[in-house]
Amino acid sequence: MTDYPSITAQLDDPDAAREEGRRKMDWARQHMPILNALREDFEADQPFADQRIGMAMHVEAKTANLVELLADGGAEVAITGCNPLSTHDDVSAALDAHENITSYAKRGVDDDEYYAAIEAVIDIEPTITVDDGMDMVAAIHEDYPELIDSIIGGAEETTTGVHRLRAMDDDGALDYPVFAVNDTPMKRLFDNVHGTGESSLASIAMTTNLSWAGKNVVVAGYGDCGRGVAKKASGQNADVIVTEVEPRRALEAHMEGYDVMPMSEAAEIGDVFLTVTGNRDVVTAEHFEQMKDGVLLANAGHFDIEVDLDALSDMAVDQYEARDGVEAYEMDDGRRLNVLAEGRLVNLAAPIALGHPVEVMDQSFGIQAVCVRELVDNPDAYDAGVHDVPDDLDKEVAEIKLEAEGVDFDSLTDTQEEYMGSWQHGT
Ligand code: NAI
Repeated sequence: MTDYPSITAQLDDPDAAREEGRRKMDWARQHMPILNALREDFEADQPFADQRIGMAMHVEAKTANLVELLADGGAEVAITGCNPLSTHDDVSAALDAHENITSYAKRGVDDDEYYAAIEAVIDIEPTITVDDGMDMVAAIHEDYPELIDSIIGGAEETTTGVHRLRAMDDDGALDYPVFAVNDTPMKRLFDNVHGTGESSLASIAMTTNLSWAGKNVVVAGYGDCGRGVAKKASGQNADVIVTEVEPRRALEAHMEGYDVMPMSEAAEIGDVFLTVTGNRDVVTAEHFEQMKDGVLLANAGHFDIEVDLDALSDMAVDQYEARDGVEAYEMDDGRRLNVLAEGRLVNLAAPIALGHPVEVMDQSFGIQAVCVRELVDNPDAYDAGVHDVPDDLDKEVAEIKLEAEGVDFDSLTDTQEEYMGSWQHGT
């Protein structure tokens, strides 16, 4: 047992925080038709009665609506953050006030507190885990393997978490089933592309009060997130340069009309650098050497290791806060390189960051919710390992959303269905 305190015990005025957090949650909830539709079913059916759900996610208003949905569906939930800077303490406090929820998430924790909060969540002995980045699954496997037998399964939100899980699975080290929520179309094609694109650019603009128009924006990584960032930056009249290591992705970016070049060339051209690779050491000392005065360096990949801040710090003769959320590193030749949000996910960790738009997260969390329901409904259907989200669940969420948007669409006729399922029809 840990004695790590919940957020309520850590705040000076938890009542005021709760009220503000609830206001934020209510606003988000108005724009989350998928979670609201599921809520009607879950409140009536109580599918999660007897389940204990341990979560490590970005604790802000949209996530809070997922957490509350699971709790209102009967689960006992414990949650903490999945990044030291992305928690909204007021939302965390509002969650902690729910009788079925304990929230340990707090913004600005150090490494020890971050992992102590994860241990506190594990103390509820979860039967289901919901992660963003896989820190919870890792902690359970490394430090509490005795709990694994009673865990039905889990769900993972982000690309980096799914990468880590697949690596663990390949090593035969993943001992319970986990749904790769990230990879399913209803998540990836909207959250990663539109969500990361819109919210990263919005956070950078609001944090710096600078324009995109006419800037050279270097996007490192042309995956789902990179595509979104590049498209939206281009839509705001920036000149986009893409760096890649995967030939097909590099070609795709080239055919979209972006300049593609190595980071060593982009370094001297860029005004803004935004990394979305999920990899490490993407912008390093050799690049800092070449950059222009005043550049912005931001990361939207999961971990804060894409921009080599240690090297930057070593190279700097001075370092100071240029604005809230902007740290300037001054080089000996007078150039200032400006790092946003300490190199952590800029759309979530910048002081005024709001994360993805609500509508996008309604989709991602709709998938999370139906995955948790699936684990409870079919606890023996999935072996240990990483699993794709079943297609019918993905479609279910899409259909709820289309109905809420008032969008009607066609369905196959019997003849078409027969034709599409047949190999005998030729010329
Ligand atoms: P992805 O795997 O689709 O794309 C990553 C791309 O980066 C790949 O095309 C890969 O070839 C490229 N890459 C890898 N190393 C590189 C290097 N050294 N230089 C240039 N390119 C390189 O992944 P996705 O879905 O785009 O996610 C990227 C990261 O963003 C992950 O860490 C993910 O967890 C995170 N993410 C962040 C979100 C946010 O809200 N900020 C939302 C969703 C994902």
